[in-house]
Amino acid sequence: MILSIESSCDDSSLAITEIATKKVLFHKKISQEAEHACYGGVVPELASRLHAVTLPKLLEETKPYFDKLKAVAVTNQPGLGVTLLEGIAMAKTIASLQKIPLIAVHHLKGHIYSLFIEKETTLPLLVLLISGGHTQIIRVESFERMEILATSMDDSVGESYDKVAKMMGLGYPGGPIIESLALNGDEDRFDLPVPLRNSKLIAFSLSGLKNAVRLEIEKLGGIEGMSKQDKCDLSASFQKALKLHLVQKSKKIFKSETIKDFAIVGGASANKYIREAYQNLCNEFDKTLHVAPLQYCSDNAAMIGRFALEAYQKKQFIDPYEIDVVVTKK
Ligand code: KG4
Ligand code: ZN
Repeated sequence: MILSIESSCDDSSLAITEIATKKVLFHKKISQEAEHACYGGVVPELASRLHAVTLPKLLEETKPYFDKLKAVAVTNQPGLGVTLLEGIAMAKTIASLQKIPLIAVHHLKGHIYSLFIEKETTLPLLVLLISGGHTQIIRVESFERMEILATSMDDSVGESYDKVAKMMGLGYPGGPIIESLALNGDEDRFDLPVPLRNSKLIAFSLSGLKNAVRLEIEKLGGIEGMSKQDKCDLSASFQKALKLHLVQKSKKIFKSETIKDFAIVGGASANKYIREAYQNLCNEFDKTLHVAPLQYCSDNAAMIGRFALEAYQKKQFIDPYEIDVVVTKK
């Protein structure tokens, strides 16, 4: 069995995956969303201190599996340095004490492998990764061969939902809040710009859209001046512009990629409005859409364990005294 640990942002999560069957035998996560909500985003030092409390608690629950552990896996990049370190410290201690190999996992590759937890999705795959830190389209040929075809120039999809929600005083994380308000909103009320609409660039940019939302909020007299309906309409209009942007750029890639299977992963892939838009796009291009089960869209250790299974078979281990965080933008 493999014990996997995820602490790259505000979720502490542990999983136990059985090597022979690839089944998740144990999976638990403790989210810190409530603790960060009043700040409108994740406060790294607070997140790190909370991981220091919750990770050992979760570890205690995995005690029944300890005798059977063959490896321990941990996310070491990308993410918040201080929170990644909490998971790494625990993983390297376990690896040393139990004398089992240590596997370092790239968080984004973990998100891609969330697709494989409950079913054997086949490769190659085209993947849209939309999380709190990233917006990317990746061509996944194999476990070793992944190529980024398009990436974000500024705010990621999840980040833009979070920032728009914060501007309207709606709390954190913004994605689910905006998505549900939008259900009761008029998406055509505000004429927000679709980013890079007239540009040939195959890339994503959402900071301009975010600023356009900010200007509309100001025109309405700020948060205080906004009615519930204003918030619903602005949420819906924001989501529409974001969707049109994602789909327009994805379409350019779809035109030249022959890969028949397409997947959306990452926290924002839970969004039904975005899923629906991509289902339509896949129908148009005769591609099959794959998504991970909802519980594995946002950060979780089961996806880290699923990736680690592949790394274990290939004996891709790291010395506990060598492992370090690789800090990039989360
Ligand atoms: O993948 P994830 O859990 O963490 C990172 O790796 O960043 O993604 C978290 C992000 C947050 O920004 C959150 O607002 C967004 O995913 N998110 C959503 C939805 N659920 C979560 N965005 C849009 N619609 C949703 N339903
Ligand atoms: Zn993530």
